[in-house]
Amino acid sequence: MSSKAQFSTKIGLIAATVGSAVGLGSVWRFPSEVQANGGAAFLLIYIACVFLLGIPVMLAEFSIGRGGGSDAVGSFRNLAPGKKWWFAGALAILTSYLILCYYMVVAGWTFEYMWESITGHLYQPIENVDGYSSQFSVRMQEYISDDINPLIHTFVVIGINLGILLFGVQKGIERISNILMPMLFVLLLAFCFVSLSLPKADEGLKFFLNPDFSAITPSVVIRALGQAFFSLSLGMGVLITYASYFPKDTRLIKTSFTVSSSVIFVAFMMGVIIFPAVTSFGLQDATLKGPTLVFATLPEVFAQLPYSQVWSALFFLFLTVAAITSTISIAEVSIAFMQDRCKMSRKAACLTMLLPLFVLSTACSLAQGSWSDIKLFGMNIFDLLDYLTANIMLPIGSILLCLYVGWFAPKKFLNNELTNYGAITARTFQIVVFIIRFIAPVLIASILISSFLND
Ligand code: PHE
Repeated sequence: MSSKAQFSTKIGLIAATVGSAVGLGSVWRFPSEVQANGGAAFLLIYIACVFLLGIPVMLAEFSIGRGGGSDAVGSFRNLAPGKKWWFAGALAILTSYLILCYYMVVAGWTFEYMWESITGHLYQPIENVDGYSSQFSVRMQEYISDDINPLIHTFVVIGINLGILLFGVQKGIERISNILMPMLFVLLLAFCFVSLSLPKADEGLKFFLNPDFSAITPSVVIRALGQAFFSLSLGMGVLITYASYFPKDTRLIKTSFTVSSSVIFVAFMMGVIIFPAVTSFGLQDATLKGPTLVFATLPEVFAQLPYSQVWSALFFLFLTVAAITSTISIAEVSIAFMQDRCKMSRKAACLTMLLPLFVLSTACSLAQGSWSDIKLFGMNIFDLLDYLTANIMLPIGSILLCLYVGWFAPKKFLNNELTNYGAITARTFQIVVFIIRFIAPVLIASILISSFLND
């Protein structure tokens, strides 16, 4: 795909961008962050971060991509020739690549759970586990502490990515997003009803929706900010790259609202599914924290339904697809860079970018198994990469974006992009500019600094 490629339809453009945004971030990462960071208070700050900071940063990225018409580095080069701003694009590409290393691992878990649901293995009771209800957390623990199995599935997912990416934007990314994203939404809605009808559902719902403001600390705020940027695919060059495929009449402000609301909607539904299930099955404690939460809790919900296996297989199938529409968008950033900057063929670019992942993702996969004791700054490599990318690199990248668009880009640049060169009236324009120039960089920087001082 050259930089001149475009999405063929409006709905395809939205589906692919929503497909990039809605992924494991909202389904897998969000509930575990809510659980670790005080429940409803986190939800509130997260939503505030999406609207106040996420949407303006997204608009900055869209403008750079469509105005610059190239990959993350190339767009900066085109807009600010001879200046060092391309560095912001390079940082974005590096961040996105590091995210890919552990994201592939979780996508591999999802794939494995789909397979185990189809074969029925996931729902066979395990012996020596006290009570049926805790068996899924035991199974998850067993699964990820094994070295080989998760690795095989990670490799399968990397292989699938390679296949899709070789087909390019329209045939690969757009087609698959169009069909499967809407199905995921419908399925999630159905699961919300099941979860809400569980006994003790109200306790979980209270944790998710009734804020305890004393739980808010600087570290909770930085984590909510990180989650907002991660789930909106911000600060990683993804939206710059995708926006370079937007036609000139795409309404950027409207698109940013559609994408953000879909992300919040999915994350919210996941909270409504997970937390009632957690309290209903008494899973608040110990082994369920962090990355394994969703995998240990959701099968409990499916087990309540007739045809558990079918629901479970469908859910994990769609989640695998949601993960893959995100991984291909992340990989596309580096591939577009290789094609546009290094003048590589698409095939060579795909292979150069994806082959190293077989090695790097291996480290992240083993970090849950026999390498779990190898720690840097008190975290295993999986958690460290997650923390470093979402909570440090994304905010820094986003500050640079805002500084460029707000202060250094050609004077009428943002105005032109947001109004499609005067073709439409963007009423929110002044507010967006104000946030990008003044509010976003200062707020993001102060959140970053105060979380550092607190650690
Ligand atoms: N936003 C995606 C998710 O929530 C993850 C992602 C990050 C996608 C960065 C693209 C770029 O799963």
